Amino acid sequence: MGNISLAIVCVLDYTIIHLSCPQIGSSPQDYVNAHNAARSEVGIGPITWNATVAAYAQNFANQRKGDCRLVHSGGPYGENIAWSSGDLSGTAAVNLWVAEKADYNYNTNSCAAGRQCGHYTQVVWSDSLRLGCGKVRCNDGGTFITCNYDPPGNYVGQRPY
Ligand SMILES: *[C@@H]1O[C@H](CO)[C@@H](O)[C@H](O)[C@H]1NC(C)=O
Repeated sequence: MGNISLAIVCVLDYTIIHLSCPQIGSSPQDYVNAHNAARSEVGIGPITWNATVAAYAQNFANQRKGDCRLVHSGGPYGENIAWSSGDLSGTAAVNLWVAEKADYNYNTNSCAAGRQCGHYTQVVWSDSLRLGCGKVRCNDGGTFITCNYDPPGNYVGQRPY
């Protein structure tokens, strides 16, 4: 009964499910939509889901199941990663990265002192056209999410768009 109630609340309140109902919001379309919302805000073209990139991301996420460590894969793609001690939806993870926009200054192509903007600039890197993300619930109850970008972004000295 608990699960049924939760599902109904989630479906009814679709606008806030991303944080409160993380079991929803982790489909390929959810990841793509969250990225493209941020990309269209700055007037750049969409990113599309790519099965090869997604398989890479999910494979790396699966490797984190035992430790849930926030480490990068060191592969050929751009990569954003996120961790939560509990469940986290794909949409919520992307929104955490996009929230860095508040600290990013496009004119100077720099980030506020002591802040991080690199996740955001990868999301809105206009030359990154293919996306794949993976999520795993770790053995300790946490969540590890990784998104990969092809071609990679965040070249030093270049603007994202
Ligand atoms: C998916 O991305 C790979 C590179 O990671 C590329 O070789 C392949 O052509 C892409 N597939 C599609 C359908 O675009």
